[in-house]
Amino acid sequence: MKSCIFDLDGVLVDSAKYHYLAWKALADKLGFVFTEKDNERLKGVSRMKSLEILLEIGKITMSDGEKEQAAAEKNELYRSYISKMTPEEILPGVENFLKELKSLGIKTAIGSASKNTPLILERTGLKKYFDAVADGTNVSKAKPDPEVFLKGAELLGVDPKTCIVFEDAAAGVEAAHRAGMKAVGIGSQTVLNEADLVIPNFVGVTSDILQKI
Ligand code: BG6
Ligand code: MG
Repeated sequence: MKSCIFDLDGVLVDSAKYHYLAWKALADKLGFVFTEKDNERLKGVSRMKSLEILLEIGKITMSDGEKEQAAAEKNELYRSYISKMTPEEILPGVENFLKELKSLGIKTAIGSASKNTPLILERTGLKKYFDAVADGTNVSKAKPDPEVFLKGAELLGVDPKTCIVFEDAAAGVEAAHRAGMKAVGIGSQTVLNEADLVIPNFVGVTSDILQKI
């Protein structure tokens, strides 16, 4: 039997747009332009690493203390957005797919870098679909390190080789492969060309997909 591990941001919910808005507010304050294209580089990447990429784009240097402060500020704004999220923000097709997996007894876990995972799962009502949650609160190494997916498999009590990861970030696809798992990319073939299979979204997706890879 296969098990499924899902990234959260950009796979189950469109929280990537809130990350972007919050980082953009910081860039605006620091006086440089931060585009949606730049934001692609931050997907799947930890909060601190994201800040470092952002500062590199703006050619700005900060002390460790200033970085802590800037990351905390960004997170406060981000949390103000996600604390207003509703179940309507679950991406199309996701709930049907998760319901089917549950009805088939297929084990499911979250594998996300985000420390805000619990808040999003609670606000959107997605929590009930998952047997385990590996996230920024119980792992420390950021994707492409495989730690978060290996933790997901461990919490599910399954062999990593039986897991299929659903990911929207190139760093996440690499992390899945390094964990010895298969990866389904959600989004564009160009960005996710290392994935074993790429689909644009979950619309019409059924458990048949697990046999395709
Ligand atoms: C990932 C996002 O899921 O979580 C990244 O793709 C984000 O953009 C990372 O930086 C960490 O999230 P948070 O909520 O802990 O700042
Ligand atoms: Mg993601």
